[in-house]
Amino acid sequence: MSIVTIIILWGITVAFKLADKDRNAVQSVTKEVKQTISDVTGTWRVDIVQNDGVVIPTYFVLRQNGDTIDGTVSIKATVDLPIRNPHWEDSDFVFCTDWNISYRLHPEKEKFSVTINYGNGLEKGQAFRVSEAEAIPPKALPIPGLNNVPSNGAAKTPPMGWNSWNHFGNRVDDAIVRHAADALVSSGLAKLGYVYINIDDCWQGGRDVQGNIVTNKKFPDMKGLADYVHGKGLKLGLYSSPGPRTCGGYEGSYGHEEQDAKTYAAWGIDYLKYDWCSAQRMYSNSQVRAVYQKMGEALANAGRPIVYSLCEYGIEDVWKWGQNVGGNLWRTGYDINDSWKRMAEIGFNQDQYSSYAGPGHWNDPDMLEVGNGGMTDTEYRTHFSLWCLLAAPLLAGNDLNAMSAETLQILGNQEAIAIDQDPLGNAAVPVIKDGDIHVLMRDLHDGSKAVGIFNLGDVTRKGTINLQDIKLEGSQKIRDLWLHLDLGKFTSQFNYEVPSHGVILLKITKSHLVKQR
Ligand code: GLA
Repeated sequence: MSIVTIIILWGITVAFKLADKDRNAVQSVTKEVKQTISDVTGTWRVDIVQNDGVVIPTYFVLRQNGDTIDGTVSIKATVDLPIRNPHWEDSDFVFCTDWNISYRLHPEKEKFSVTINYGNGLEKGQAFRVSEAEAIPPKALPIPGLNNVPSNGAAKTPPMGWNSWNHFGNRVDDAIVRHAADALVSSGLAKLGYVYINIDDCWQGGRDVQGNIVTNKKFPDMKGLADYVHGKGLKLGLYSSPGPRTCGGYEGSYGHEEQDAKTYAAWGIDYLKYDWCSAQRMYSNSQVRAVYQKMGEALANAGRPIVYSLCEYGIEDVWKWGQNVGGNLWRTGYDINDSWKRMAEIGFNQDQYSSYAGPGHWNDPDMLEVGNGGMTDTEYRTHFSLWCLLAAPLLAGNDLNAMSAETLQILGNQEAIAIDQDPLGNAAVPVIKDGDIHVLMRDLHDGSKAVGIFNLGDVTRKGTINLQDIKLEGSQKIRDLWLHLDLGKFTSQFNYEVPSHGVILLKITKSHLVKQR
């Protein structure tokens, strides 16, 4: 027998022994669970008390078949996801769901001690048995027949401002929002067009006896907060969902659309982000348009112009009908995060929607991450340039009170902002894709072009663009919008050197157009 055969046989024997050990472990643990909880089959609810006192339930719908347990998790009663990779660790039942959430259920006498790990924080609680009916979503409400909601005349250029979610998540409170408003003004960003202060998820408390939406204790006086924000020359935005619960598990507008729209108007709200979330539990995708129309109509009748931001991640090609339901902007996909990978994945795949953007109705690739720390300043310049070329909403998502000079320079680049806010509202399309080099171009109202030369690769790239290849004939005046420098006149070629993950953002104007001015 050769030495190789001996090693292989030894390996197989060890593998069998280990598998036996695992099997024994699963059996003995299942026995232990059976002693504390005879059969876990059924519906379990864990209530998690949030930092604002709001209690949010998560349900585990479990099925035990001999030694195996499977089922679904109804996360924050908002979305149902199947249990993945169920297994035992010591006496704990451990599994995960999509979205990188992991769960540890420690069986105790007729209850589980639960630890949920969301990747960015832990939640702990006790799960008790509840009736099966509790975890079943309510029946879908009737939806309107399809109609065209008249335009509210808002958002002639892409909305600009700040949103609480990317940096503060569920920590957002009245003080954070006031400080953000202060900082938007004191930093000079407000003067450059950043006017919306948008409170994302986690402001809701529930409903009063008349069914009116109320705030949680982190927001003691929403009308007072709106007055404060308006007093600074800014506008205030809120967030809700067409379902019973928001993505964070807070109260949604389900069945209260008109009432909520009136409450928002009475508070002085100027912007609503409306997030599909739990609505997916009772409505099918084909109903999404009618469901969004319902709130569109409610806002149109609320007696105050309110920018309507549709957040349904691109379901049913929202760019084709978002405007018809009164939408001023619509998310084209799932969430951004503060990483080059996710930002680039979103940003460089938006050109398919470009033709749907225009004054009053914009594609929304999601809010900015500039200054949140997960990318380099070079990458943040790319992120910002890309969003400006795409005519995307510019909603800063960082802590405006702890901004570096570079972050302020990026968010405050007036020449880039002018591209984003160009009144023509044309969104850029790629004109060159050459390996790691992507060139995007958009038309501007004065006849000139905005051009971004992006390097998606890991090393610096040098190259040449033949102006004719991007349909620029004759002498062109080229200005660099990050160096804030006129580079001169070019008739045939433009040589570039772009660092890894970097951008050169240019404004290109035909020389005779320059002379005419
Ligand atoms: C969804 C949205 C995010 C944010 C969160 C809040 O994930 O896409 O932008 O609003 O919900 O819970």
